[in-house]
Amino acid sequence: MTGRVIVVGSVNIDLVVTIARLPAPGETVTGGRFERHHGGKGGNQAVAAARLGARASFVGAVGSDDLGAAARDALAVEGVDVSELAVLDAEPTGVALILVDADGENSIAVAGGANAALTAERAGAALRRLATGRGDVVLVGHEIPTAVARAALALGRAAGATTILNPAPAAGLDRATLSLADIVTPNEGELATLLEAGSIGASAVLVSLGARGARLEADGGSTAIAALPVAAVDTVGAGDTLNGALAASLAQGRTLLASATRAVAAASLAVTRAGAREGMPTADQLDAALD
Ligand code: RIB
Repeated sequence: MTGRVIVVGSVNIDLVVTIARLPAPGETVTGGRFERHHGGKGGNQAVAAARLGARASFVGAVGSDDLGAAARDALAVEGVDVSELAVLDAEPTGVALILVDADGENSIAVAGGANAALTAERAGAALRRLATGRGDVVLVGHEIPTAVARAALALGRAAGATTILNPAPAAGLDRATLSLADIVTPNEGELATLLEAGSIGASAVLVSLGARGARLEADGGSTAIAALPVAAVDTVGAGDTLNGALAASLAQGRTLLASATRAVAAASLAVTRAGAREGMPTADQLDAALD
């Protein structure tokens, strides 16, 4: 029996305008196309893991509004266990306003809502109810309060699970939190932010490099992992796919290097379709691409 992926993080509704170029501050650019998608880094990561065949549970929060119900349904339909997705009456569901340009690059503004109201007590109780243990992978994001991320990593480690911290966004993360992660997965900008505050402290760091793939730093060495050559349509959710695929592969018993290689390939495939989740591959699609 393989382990589970337990994601502790955010879930949003993404309101996306695809536009020829991103506007400068104070500028209006017309001619865009609007689409609504399911998102939130944590929700995306859980879906990425589930699509690759992992048993995935999501710990997080939505509001008691129609967006929250839609977000919950979208996770459940992918096979993600939502028994620990809290519904908070006092907060709205998280929303992300996203602009995507002609090259697939994006800028994102998030109103966290219920994600920001998640507490360490609630997340801790959820992880205990899920009987988190050895063989499981606890994947924690940072679109939730730092105290929640820290508590989830501490509980995951104490339970014998593998702990991954996706430091997105990186601002506000402290050494105590970083040192509770076995693997930290920043992009280049997040890595720079983390290093400004000191060393990372995890035994492995997987740095995502966008179209160039990723760099795995582990056991005193550094390994470059190339991305698959694809035409990018929308890079929203690429990092989340990488994290979810990494966690899924580790939970399924592969080595860190094999898992990082699958994660980079999964992220490459994810950018070929619009929306954070739409391009995430199934296990068969990923295996075919790796062949
Ligand atoms: O990483 C992409 C995600 O960031 C989007 O789905 C958006 O909701 C924001 O959380």
